[in-house]
Amino acid sequence: MKPTAPEQEVQRLRRSVRDLVALSTLPAIWRNYDLHQIADNIAATLLSMLSADFVHVWVPGQSDEPPIEVLHSALPDGIATLDAIRGGWGEIWRDGPFPSVGMLTLADDAGSFHFASAPIGFERQAMLIAGSRQAGFPDETQRLLLAVAANEATVTLARRRAEGDERRFAALVERSSDFIAYAGMDAAPHYINPAGLKLVGLTDLDEALSLRIYDFLTPETRDRVRDELLPIVLRRGRWVGELTFQHFRTGEVLPFLVDWFRIDHPRTGKPMNLATVSRDLRAQKKSESDLRILNETLEHRVLTRTAELGETNSKLLAEIEDHARADAKLQLLQSELFHAARLSVAGQMAGALAHELNQPLTAAANSIHAARRLLHWEPPPLVDLVPTVMNDAADQILRAGQIIRRMRELSTRGETDMRNESIVTMVDEASALALIGPEAIGIDVKFLYDPAATHALANRIQIQQVLTNLMRNAVEAMAGESSRTLDVCTARVDGDTIEITVSDNGPGLSPEIREHLFEPFVSSKRNGMGLGLSICRSIVEAHGGRLFGEQRESGGAVFRFTLAALPVNGELHAA
Ligand SMILES: Nc1ncnc2c1ncn2[C@@H]1O[C@H](COP(=O)(O)OP(=O)(O)O)[C@@H](O)[C@H]1O
Ligand SMILES: [Mg+2]
Repeated sequence: MKPTAPEQEVQRLRRSVRDLVALSTLPAIWRNYDLHQIADNIAATLLSMLSADFVHVWVPGQSDEPPIEVLHSALPDGIATLDAIRGGWGEIWRDGPFPSVGMLTLADDAGSFHFASAPIGFERQAMLIAGSRQAGFPDETQRLLLAVAANEATVTLARRRAEGDERRFAALVERSSDFIAYAGMDAAPHYINPAGLKLVGLTDLDEALSLRIYDFLTPETRDRVRDELLPIVLRRGRWVGELTFQHFRTGEVLPFLVDWFRIDHPRTGKPMNLATVSRDLRAQKKSESDLRILNETLEHRVLTRTAELGETNSKLLAEIEDHARADAKLQLLQSELFHAARLSVAGQMAGALAHELNQPLTAAANSIHAARRLLHWEPPPLVDLVPTVMNDAADQILRAGQIIRRMRELSTRGETDMRNESIVTMVDEASALALIGPEAIGIDVKFLYDPAATHALANRIQIQQVLTNLMRNAVEAMAGESSRTLDVCTARVDGDTIEITVSDNGPGLSPEIREHLFEPFVSSKRNGMGLGLSICRSIVEAHGGRLFGEQRESGGAVFRFTLAALPVNGELHAA
């Protein structure tokens, strides 16, 4: 029995409802499918539901994946490629009624072929196309089924994409080395990423769930966070700054750059969570402090070096000043000495002797000439006068002798203004003068001071003149030697006497020279005056001392002179 029209209509509706229900259960089946399997499933399901000749599902590939192309059954005759049936639907969908199922009919020799398509995806990136030679394809039910299938696919696709994004974001958070967490509005943590847990010394999230945000902080920062900072996050939505966390196991203080923000409910806008992305600043702090230490060390080194340089500089300046002072002193000494020399017996004797002696000696010579003439006078009554004339000559010669004696006395008298003088100072200054000049270069000079002979009663300038003369003679005597040594020694020879010795390793004193050593004008030198030693002896004797020179046993000459000693502390003797 053939069903009646109303019965047919009821059957058709029933089938439609069944198909719609079947379609709506598809997403549950798709849960474990990949996109290709889903496309395949849609195509197969629709092919039978729509009794179509073909169903094609196309999903563009993401990034560089190839697109998904599924075709169930076969393309109509005359259409070679899937590309050919995909073009141009955009316009049709836009202009078509809702749900956006587009329709197109192509006519060929075999009759008409009807196409129906629906976009998949919120951006209509994918599509679903069915085709049939049935007249009136797609009818209203078929359009509805197509639209519902496309909707289910759209939702699933969107969810897949969202899930993919979510998974990627979750992976980002899970793998981040920062402390990433969110808490409820009661400040109880809901989630902390693995790096965050590890940073603060928690083994898993369960451990964190019973805690509060404050527990992660060092005790002294907790009040500030509760009373000041979290209210700022709630009020303004965000706070960024440095805070110190504390390791739950070791108690280590962990400096963090904390970014706290509020997450609001997407619909109601009500604050839902407090979240943070916080960065461990230990490495940064360490390199900062390393840098600071480096800087400080460097600064310290620069300071030390600068100080050292400053010290060296001032030492140098002091040395330069010392040198300048020594130079000035030397100059003063030199001029004193030259002055003294000019005034002293040397100068006087050299000039005055010639002048003074000239007169009596000329007179004596004249008298002797006269006597000789008187002796030969003819007739000879004048012979009686000869003894008188000869007496005159003798007087003049005696006068010459007196002049010499007087000059020698003059050389020392009145000059011997004696004081308590330091022997070291006198020797020091005298040697500075004596060792001037190229002939003194390379001489090994040794001083040997007796600590028991530090001071003497002396006219400093005169004694220095003695010392300078003796050292100068020694320098000059050693001129031909390859190695030259000058020794100056002091010694306390007895309670009252100091002996000063100047010795050299020159040729020494031969017996002939030694005999006349202290006589004036005795010199073995081409330009020598031969006055030095005679003046020295006068000076030493005026000081109450003695000067003599002798051949040294080891070769060379040695000159010794004595002075009256003074107590070491420099007190003047009662004498
Ligand atoms: N250290 C000495 N070594 C050798 N001969 C010396 C030494 N000192 C002095 N004489 C001798 O004594 C001489 C006299 O010395 P001096 O009276 O100082 O006069 P001058 O140095 O002008 O010759 C010198 O020419 C030299 O022959
Ligand atoms: Mg001399």
